[in-house]
Amino acid sequence: MDKVRICVVGMGIGRSNGRALAANPRSSVTALCDLLQDRMEAFASELPEPVKFYTDYKLMCQDPDIDAVMVGTPNQWHVPIALEAVRNGKHVLVTKPLADSEDAARTLVEAAEAAGVVNMMSLSMRFSDPVQYLGGLARQGFFGELYYAHSRSVRRIGIPGANKGGVHFIQKGGGAFRDMGVHFLDSVWWLLGRPKPVSVLGVAGAKFGPRGQGYWMVEHQPPASYYSQYAADDYGGGFIRFDNGVGLHIESFWASHHEDMGQIELFGTEAGAKLRPLTLHQTLNEQPVDIPVELPQKPSTSWDTLAGHFVDCVLDGIPCQSPLRDGLEVQRMMEALLLSAELGKEVRLD
Ligand SMILES: NC(=O)c1ccc[n+]([C@@H]2O[C@H](COP(=O)([O-])OP(=O)(O)OC[C@H]3O[C@@H](n4cnc5c(N)ncnc54)[C@H](O)[C@@H]3O)[C@@H](O)[C@H]2O)c1
Repeated sequence: MDKVRICVVGMGIGRSNGRALAANPRSSVTALCDLLQDRMEAFASELPEPVKFYTDYKLMCQDPDIDAVMVGTPNQWHVPIALEAVRNGKHVLVTKPLADSEDAARTLVEAAEAAGVVNMMSLSMRFSDPVQYLGGLARQGFFGELYYAHSRSVRRIGIPGANKGGVHFIQKGGGAFRDMGVHFLDSVWWLLGRPKPVSVLGVAGAKFGPRGQGYWMVEHQPPASYYSQYAADDYGGGFIRFDNGVGLHIESFWASHHEDMGQIELFGTEAGAKLRPLTLHQTLNEQPVDIPVELPQKPSTSWDTLAGHFVDCVLDGIPCQSPLRDGLEVQRMMEALLLSAELGKEVRLD
């Protein structure tokens, strides 16, 4: 095989993945799959080559002219579609979060590994230049021992409304933590060197969504028939302990009476860092110094980076930097945080 033929499933975020896969010289998007024909046709008009359309993912997975499947559907559909794909020998690239539950995530990871296909998480934040830059420094030992981190994503008004995406965001298996928290949890966990979690203490709830407040685009307040279906968190926060003694404070808010923020702070024995604005903190000549970092502007995006890595994994057999197993570990921490909130006590993961 010299070119990977890919079907993109889900015409929301699937389009960002699909554009990057179509632009890569070693892959082409040859099929699209969505329940909505008009969304497929609109995206197809952007693509350089003609594509097949599928509304039934099971049929699509039987197509011998498809080598790999990018799953960009609502959380609740990631596992059924990716499972069908790996069982048919297709490589898979799955958007975050891996699943809507830990059990579903585990079933998929085991099936993908047994099938021996490339299985990768599509993580636009982990593959972004600033996170990759900090990861490079961490691997070189710049921070010394990383012993603590704080990561948070806060929106003032950011609950997906009736006019943004589907109701799946606010239903069971959706929620703020699985939507935004997952990016910040994944990236900070990766920066810490993917330590093994041992315990999680969390709080979570829904303070805005069920009251019809905090939705994106206030001029289009969702009707009660929409927000009465609210069955997920709109905030979650907690503390994760790892087996090497490292601590992580993590928070995610879809709505709040606070300014918007997306931050990672790393605490190391030799240096610290924050993600936004990208800054390194050190002590030089016994003086504390804060070093702002300007990364070179590139024409490519994190979608291009992760698409390129996926294609290299398939064609060159290189080790995958974000296997679905990482998605499972992040899912375990996320679900433990939400369960801890429900039970009102710490959840052990060891
Ligand atoms: N930066 C990122 O990585 C990022 C950003 C946004 C969303 N996402 C993820 O992408 C997923 C989808 O979110 P979105 O914003 O694109 O939602 P969306 O509602 O805009 O799009 C989802 C699409 O999937 C289609 N779909 C639903 N069920 C399907 C099925 N069974 N078979 C085929 N198609 C189906 C819908 O018709 C719709 O077109 C979520 O899991 C979300 O977490 C990731």
